Amino acid sequence: MAIAQDGRFVRRIQLRTPITAHDDHHPFDIPAVQALAAGLDLAPGVTFLVGENGSGKSTLVEALAVACGFSAEGGSQNLRFATRPTHSDLHTRLVVTRGRRRPRTGFFLRAESFYNVLTALEELDAQPSPSPPLMPVYTGGRAGSLHERSHGESFWDLLINRFGPSGLYLLDEPEAALSPTRQLAALRRIHDLCRDGGQFVIATHSPLLLALPGASILLLDERGITAASYDDLPMVRLYRGLLANPDGIMGELLADDDDSA
Ligand SMILES: Nc1ncnc2c1ncn2[C@@H]1O[C@H](COP(=O)(O)OP(=O)(O)O)[C@@H](O)[C@H]1O
Ligand SMILES: [Mg+2]
Repeated sequence: MAIAQDGRFVRRIQLRTPITAHDDHHPFDIPAVQALAAGLDLAPGVTFLVGENGSGKSTLVEALAVACGFSAEGGSQNLRFATRPTHSDLHTRLVVTRGRRRPRTGFFLRAESFYNVLTALEELDAQPSPSPPLMPVYTGGRAGSLHERSHGESFWDLLINRFGPSGLYLLDEPEAALSPTRQLAALRRIHDLCRDGGQFVIATHSPLLLALPGASILLLDERGITAASYDDLPMVRLYRGLLANPDGIMGELLADDDDSA
């Protein structure tokens, strides 16, 4: 993937102080968080975070987002709101090494709270203000609110209308809303935004998004955080095996049920 410059806004994240015996609580019990004691370099362009449920992907993306000035529930850096504070205090322990350039724009997307982001935007627009309303920036000028679009459509509108060049984008499972076709279109959009000087950190389970050439893939597991190649990812092997031989894999998976039938 062609990257405009060394377009990193975030070069490295590291725990400010080592983990001690006092850190025997969430989130310091997560191996991927413990691994931050040694520091983690982020690549230019796209860094994917992959791993099983509970491996710490959301914890890491969220802490990075809050450390970079985003609201813990998502949105742009200008949007301050909180409906239910559930985020860890990991961000207070993180040192974020920034690049020479500052992002011109940015967005933190959490699939599960995107709805709340849109509600916060509507509420801001309903208040008297000399500034122009925000929602048209998200809808691409179309009348109405993104609440009137499907989850996938509203995320797609966000990606096309609100995301722009030289942005820092932190996305937690963006595929949740998108059809496979739209995921590939999103991949193309992400590629173009990186070419225009953007940086992405994306937690994902999507083998479609992960196929983006040139992206860095970090696997979070019981060992901590390790660089991984697409072909070696356990989930990619799983999908390949299933798609090549669905009957065989289902036979194995459901063997007990079949036996007892
Ligand atoms: N507020 C919390 N208090 C205690 N444990 C939590 C809290 N939030 C998440 N966890 C735990 O932290 C671990 C990592 O969670 P998370 O970062 O959401 O994983 P992932 O996004 O990789 O599925 C999980 O085991 C989860 O149960
Ligand atoms: Mg998660």
